[in-house]
Amino acid sequence: TAESQVVGPHQPVVAFVDDDVILPCHVEPAEDVTAEILEWTRSDLNPRFVHVWRSGQDLVNTRNPSYRGRTSLFINELKHGNISLKLSRVKLSDEGTYECSFPLMGKKSFVKLVVASDAATSPVISLSGIDKNRGGVVLQCESAGWYPEPELLWLDGEGNLLSAGPTETLRGPDDLYTVSSRVTVEKRHS
Ligand SMILES: *[C@@H]1O[C@H](CO)[C@@H](O)[C@H](O)[C@H]1NC(C)=O
Repeated sequence: TAESQVVGPHQPVVAFVDDDVILPCHVEPAEDVTAEILEWTRSDLNPRFVHVWRSGQDLVNTRNPSYRGRTSLFINELKHGNISLKLSRVKLSDEGTYECSFPLMGKKSFVKLVVASDAATSPVISLSGIDKNRGGVVLQCESAGWYPEPELLWLDGEGNLLSAGPTETLRGPDDLYTVSSRVTVEKRHS
């Protein structure tokens, strides 16, 4: 109907790698949309189709290959105007802005998905050298498996911020970040 609108979440949806996540989207006021054409798309992809529903069924062959076998609608919810999308086994490359729409009616809304890695390793601190000039030791801290890129800070035993060298950042083939940084610790530091 003319007054109905498509509503997405106000906040970004956050998911960890390998999780299953629901991208919420629904029609207000609620109405049965089972017979409509509805699309989930990402305009930055080619093809942009993440999931397409047409003539009462999923249209599989136009879909972007990276989503193959990982998306589903809650088919029993369509009659309540709920067009939320379930995305399985989330990947880092799934991060982005999704559009849920009824293309024939020109009605749409957006859902932002933020993906994080919970595979980060505990930071490991090692002795990296001796700074004779300053009468201190050089410590190195390293941690891997991060996404998004983390911030690395050094604190002394009392929780005061120490000024350290620049953080070195490496991005692995899995797109996860490894960060490391060195600090020179003098005797006066606790
Ligand atoms: C839509 O369906 C999903 C899956 O059952 C549910 O989690 C979500 O709360 C529903 N949204 C609305 C607006 O009813």
